Amino acid sequence: MTRLPPPASFLALSTARPATPPAARERRLVVVSNRVAMADPGGKAAGGLAVGILAALKRSGGIWFGWSGAVTPAPPAAADVVHGDDITFATLALARRDYEQYYNGFANRVLWPLFHYRPGLIDYKREDFAGYLRVNRQFAQHLAPLLSPDDIIWVHDYHLMPLADELRRLGIEQPIGFFLHTPFPVTEILRVLPSHAALMRAMCAYDLVGFQTENDVWGFRDYLLRCAGGRAEGIDGISAFGRQLRAAVFPIGIDVDAIALQAAQSVDSRQMRRLQESLRQRRLIIGVDRLDYSKGLLQRFRAFERLIEMFPERRGHVTLMQIAPPTRSEVPEYSQIRRSLETAAGHINGRFAEFDWMPVRYLNKSFNHRTLCGFLRAAGVGLVTPLRDGMNLVAKEYVAAQDPTDPGVLVLSCFAGAARELGDALIVNPYDIDGVAEAIQEALMMPREERVERWQAMMAVMRRNDIAAWRDSFTAALADAAAGR
Ligand code: UDP
Ligand code: G6P
Repeated sequence: MTRLPPPASFLALSTARPATPPAARERRLVVVSNRVAMADPGGKAAGGLAVGILAALKRSGGIWFGWSGAVTPAPPAAADVVHGDDITFATLALARRDYEQYYNGFANRVLWPLFHYRPGLIDYKREDFAGYLRVNRQFAQHLAPLLSPDDIIWVHDYHLMPLADELRRLGIEQPIGFFLHTPFPVTEILRVLPSHAALMRAMCAYDLVGFQTENDVWGFRDYLLRCAGGRAEGIDGISAFGRQLRAAVFPIGIDVDAIALQAAQSVDSRQMRRLQESLRQRRLIIGVDRLDYSKGLLQRFRAFERLIEMFPERRGHVTLMQIAPPTRSEVPEYSQIRRSLETAAGHINGRFAEFDWMPVRYLNKSFNHRTLCGFLRAAGVGLVTPLRDGMNLVAKEYVAAQDPTDPGVLVLSCFAGAARELGDALIVNPYDIDGVAEAIQEALMMPREERVERWQAMMAVMRRNDIAAWRDSFTAALADAAAGR
């Protein structure tokens, strides 16, 4: 892929458009997200957004603009710019008040629970919404001077929904697209948000809005068409609030070959040998999730407990290893779920453990991607049972990490975006505890031939919709949508 060199000066702000807009692959890609992978030392557990963007940008190069991860007493004067091999990172600290109101407050105590269908958990405060808009304005003000005329700007996730509107106010006319990594709710859930109209009006400043699944795009279109007097234009066009935009599905993928290679290479690593020795031939069931209430971890623990109740022959012969790195720990609902899970893990181990067998290994820490891929390969069952999830990259990584001649089985929630593509997994309803226990039993019993068949079918889909396809299809559609503006 040809890539334009970075502009001579990052300070060259120009919004003049060339007579013929260049194609997407000739433009420099400017990615904007709250979380930036380089801000996380060792690249551990940054979440699906950072893992996905890093994989996408590694190949194409470009700028990645976002939060540095630092919290400072006062707002930052300027972005820190660091030139990496392919990616230029430009990051901003957040002032303490902004961090509280924008990140902990509106983003993670309102939008996150709402978009994951948990309106009962939201804590809406007008001042937090004001803080959210203020930080979006700040991001726009610090980003604008870094832009050059042929850039294509790709904004990510619920933290930055009003960013295009703020950039347009500053006269930025380049194509601006938005991708939502989380689910987008149905209209009746969105209407719980007191500021739904302001947020949706701001969203219409994008040229293209991308979602993980059809359900999400339907929710978005439905709101604009029924509640905002919008008009449908062609297959994916909408005009609303005096603007025109497109909304479509772009399921995020993974770098399938890179994961498969990492997993295969880690087989002989020291950590893998230690894991295998500690298992002593027991079957490993694995879960890997940020410690988030959307991931269905309590229900998952209960399902594992049901497995060893319903199928006593499994006692002493299976181990559930749940990796759950803590996340957003200043948000009260996260401390709460952490306490509940500790109790649940302690309860199962207290009830069933033997002097030489511990049913649940519960690890509140993160692992680097390479080690994780090895662990995924070692597990005969991958348990991915969120109550609601935009995509869930771990589901895809579990499949890609398997040994092609003897793959494990994925047990996957019907409420994860990944279930739309990975229909050859054992699809479960995470609220049906007995059903999940039975699916784990089925996975443990599944003959090799069936496992291989299901694995091959899922790999074929994942290769078609891999991370490069996600990036290329989104940026091409964005260039196209903006050219039609
Ligand atoms: N991850 C990791 N180390 C860990 C736990 C998770 O690198 O200890 C990665 C995992 O491999 C995946 C991402 O974090 O790429 C989680 O993405 P997912 O879409 O599953 O969930 P999210 O955290 O974005 O909700
Ligand atoms: C999910 C969100 C991302 C977020 C990640 C980690 O994947 O969609 O936007 O970066 O979780 O959460 P954090 O709050 O640590 O960035």
